[in-house]
Amino acid sequence: MNTSEYNSLLNYLTVFIMEYKQEPAFINREKELQTLADFIDKRPSEILFIHGPKSSGKTTLLYHFLKLLSEKSKIDTKFLNLREILIVSYKDFLKLFFGLDYNQAKDDVKEIREYDIKVFKVRVETLKGMESGQLDPFVIMKKELQKLVTKGIKPIIIIIDELQALENIYMNGQRELIKELFNFFVAMTKESHLAHVIIASSDGYFVDTIYNDSKLKKCSKFFEVDYLTREDTLEWLLHLEKYSKIKEYTLTKEQAQKIWDTVGGSMWEIQSILSDLFHMPLEQVLETYKTSMKGLIVDYTRTNKDKKAVFKIVNNKTVISFEDVKEIEHHESLLQDMVRNNILYYDPTRAVFYPQGKSVEPGIQIYFDEN
Ligand SMILES: Nc1ncnc2c1ncn2[C@@H]1O[C@H](COP(=O)(O)OP(=O)(O)O)[C@@H](O)[C@H]1O
Ligand SMILES: [Mg+2]
Repeated sequence: MNTSEYNSLLNYLTVFIMEYKQEPAFINREKELQTLADFIDKRPSEILFIHGPKSSGKTTLLYHFLKLLSEKSKIDTKFLNLREILIVSYKDFLKLFFGLDYNQAKDDVKEIREYDIKVFKVRVETLKGMESGQLDPFVIMKKELQKLVTKGIKPIIIIIDELQALENIYMNGQRELIKELFNFFVAMTKESHLAHVIIASSDGYFVDTIYNDSKLKKCSKFFEVDYLTREDTLEWLLHLEKYSKIKEYTLTKEQAQKIWDTVGGSMWEIQSILSDLFHMPLEQVLETYKTSMKGLIVDYTRTNKDKKAVFKIVNNKTVISFEDVKEIEHHESLLQDMVRNNILYYDPTRAVFYPQGKSVEPGIQIYFDEN
């Protein structure tokens, strides 16, 4: 390498170690972290369902919790983020859960690579046995969990989002995968107390299906993770350097209040507003923001009278029940569509709907103010 090549490489590296002018924040969550800590401090006896609107911080909370845990205790977490993996068949599911045990395998290096870093490490014959339907994956999982427990390790199985991806997948012999998986979780928690199971999802209808399954409901605990409170939001906005590593500007109390008035404690939106503030004044950022929020509602509503009628009720009440919209035609399917499109969130534990993300709420408000 000559000098000029060396220098250009050095420049390239400098770019890589440069500090970012904004970092993702992690505000408060003491209460939520305590709930999780209490949950895993008891011998496993139920499944924990973490629910809440999209971007309310469920995934971040769990990652943070695991980081704290791994720093202090002997715990083996089986962490699955289903959003990062496409599962379309039973074979994909097996690949996700099972990997090859290096110590036991001599043959086929290619296969070792393919099954790398999976949840449970098993022999190649075991893998093949499960694929062909001769071995039951849930029996194998149970054995693996028992091994961990004997070694004094507390296993935790955590599944994040997109659990509905497992719907409509069948195992060998017509067994419905998702049902089998939940039966397994019940067995591991309520019956044999072998592992903790934590599941996070934003899909209200999916959570609802589980909530209404009497067998599952009896052995599950539901825990809602919501957007930040006003107090936490203001704490963040008034200490940008501490929480977001932003040094270029600060906000006054009035400015912080304006942001809260527009997006509430919706962290995703706050982060995006903070990054716009590097090159735009606050008034303009919020104005642009409001316009795009209204656009979202206009685009979704178009000329549909029923959608408009639902929004009108949401605009007056924010949190609505089935009773509130029963006069509107096709309200069941309409509400379902709104939930699936991330316009409304459905909380099955209270059977109520509310705007998904604090950004939808001002969008609806401006829409009616101007119409
Ligand atoms: N406690 C928090 N404080 C500040 N920002 C947060 C916090 N929790 C999450 N966020 C941010 O909010 C966004 C959405 O979080 P995420 O965990 O993906 O939500 P969910 O899993 O509920 O959809 C992310 O950009 C994340 O960095
Ligand atoms: Mg998530």
